[in-house]
Amino acid sequence: MTEREAKAFFSEELLAWYRLIKRELPWRMNRDPYRVWVSEIMLQQTRVDTVIPYYNRFMNKFPTVGALAEAPETEVLKCWEGLGYYSRARNLQAGAKEVVEKYGGIVPDDKAAVAGLKGVGPYTAGAIMSIAFNRSEPAVDGNVMRVLSRYFCLEDDIAKPRTRVGIEKLAASLIPEGAAGDFNQALMELGALVCTPKSPSCLPCPVMEHCLARLEGREHELPVKTKAKKPRPELRAAVIIAGSGEHAGKMLVRRRPDTGLLAQMWELPHLLLPPEQEHLLDERAPKENAELAMLLGRMVREETGLLIRPRGWFMDADHVFSHIHWKMRFYLADLGEGLDAAAASAASMESAVAETAAAYDSGASASAAIAEGLPPDYRWIGKEDRNVLPFPNLFVRMFKQYWD
Ligand code: ADE
Repeated sequence: MTEREAKAFFSEELLAWYRLIKRELPWRMNRDPYRVWVSEIMLQQTRVDTVIPYYNRFMNKFPTVGALAEAPETEVLKCWEGLGYYSRARNLQAGAKEVVEKYGGIVPDDKAAVAGLKGVGPYTAGAIMSIAFNRSEPAVDGNVMRVLSRYFCLEDDIAKPRTRVGIEKLAASLIPEGAAGDFNQALMELGALVCTPKSPSCLPCPVMEHCLARLEGREHELPVKTKAKKPRPELRAAVIIAGSGEHAGKMLVRRRPDTGLLAQMWELPHLLLPPEQEHLLDERAPKENAELAMLLGRMVREETGLLIRPRGWFMDADHVFSHIHWKMRFYLADLGEGLDAAAASAASMESAVAETAAAYDSGASASAAIAEGLPPDYRWIGKEDRNVLPFPNLFVRMFKQYWD
C-alpha cells in the first residue's frame, strides 16, 4: 500500500467509524462556537466524564459570550472550582471580554482572530475553527499525536515543539473535504476510547489493518515522549483558626494575590517553608512541633494582628500542579483570648506561647486587632460561605473533613 493509499484509508475509515459511534456530549448539541470554545478549554488536561457536569453548570450560568464577559471573576472561578488549572477560566473570561469589545459578542469565523484570543493556542484555535465553522484546520493535542505516531510509526519525540508542527502538517493533509469538524473529533475520539496511552484496544480500531505500529508490534512503544520533570515539592503549613464570639463556628480565610498561581482564589492562611525550615515538615518530623506553631502564630499576627493559640495537627493534603507539588499540613488553632488561656495550652507548644506573650507585651492585642478589622483580603467564613468563594481543591477537601 502506498503512503497516499494509507492516508486515504485512514481518513475514510476513521470518519465513517466516528459517524457511527460518536457519543452524545453536551457540546455536540449544536455548533455554537462559544459552546465549542468553552468545551475545548475545559477538556484540556481533563477527562470527558469529569468535564460534563462542570460544562453543564457553566453553560447554564454563562450561556453566552456576553454573560461570561460580564460575570464577576469570583463567580467564574467558583464554577471552575475542582477542575484545576484555573488560569484557563481567567483566560476564557478575558477572551470573552475581547470578543465582546472587538467583535460585538460574536466569535469570528476567522482563524487569526480566534487564535489571537487569550488562552487560545494552536490546538484550541484549530478545534474551534473546524468544529464550529467546519474550516479545514488541524487540531493536534497529545491524543492526536499518539494516534498519528502509531498509525504512521513516527519516532519523533512528541514532547518537542518541532514534532507537533510536523504532525500538524500531517493532520491537515488527512482532513477529508468538507468534514473537518467530524474528522478532528474522530481523531480525538479514537485517542480517548481506543488508541489509549497504556493499553490500546487494537481489535475494535477502525484503522488497525494498516496501522504501522501495530503491524510491527510496536504500539506500546509509541509515541516516543521524554518525561516531564517531576513537580518540585513545596512544604507548606496552614492554620485553621476557629473564630469565637460573633465568629463562632467560622474559620479565617484569605484571598490570593491578583496574579500568579491560583490567582484570586481563596485559601487558608499558610506558610511556605524555606529550605532551612523544611525539616519541620519532613516525613519523619513529629506532626506537632512548637517551632512550626510559633512560625504560624507569627505569620498570622503579622498579617492580621490576631493572636492565635495553636491546638495541634488536623490533617495533611496534597495538591499537584504541573510543576509544583504542594504538601500541606493543616493545624488547628483558637484565637488567643488572653495569656492565661495561652499558657494553659499544651506544653509542647511552649515557645508559641512565649511568642504570644511577647506580642502582648509589645502592645498588640487581639481585641484591638478585631476592632481595627481584618485586612481587606481576609474573611471569616462559615460552613455555607465555602459555596460562595472559590477554593483550590485541597482546601475543599479540608472543609469536608472539618465541617461534614
Ligand atoms: N477532547 C478534546 N476535545 C474533545 C471533543 N470535542 N470531544 C471529545 N473529547 C475531546
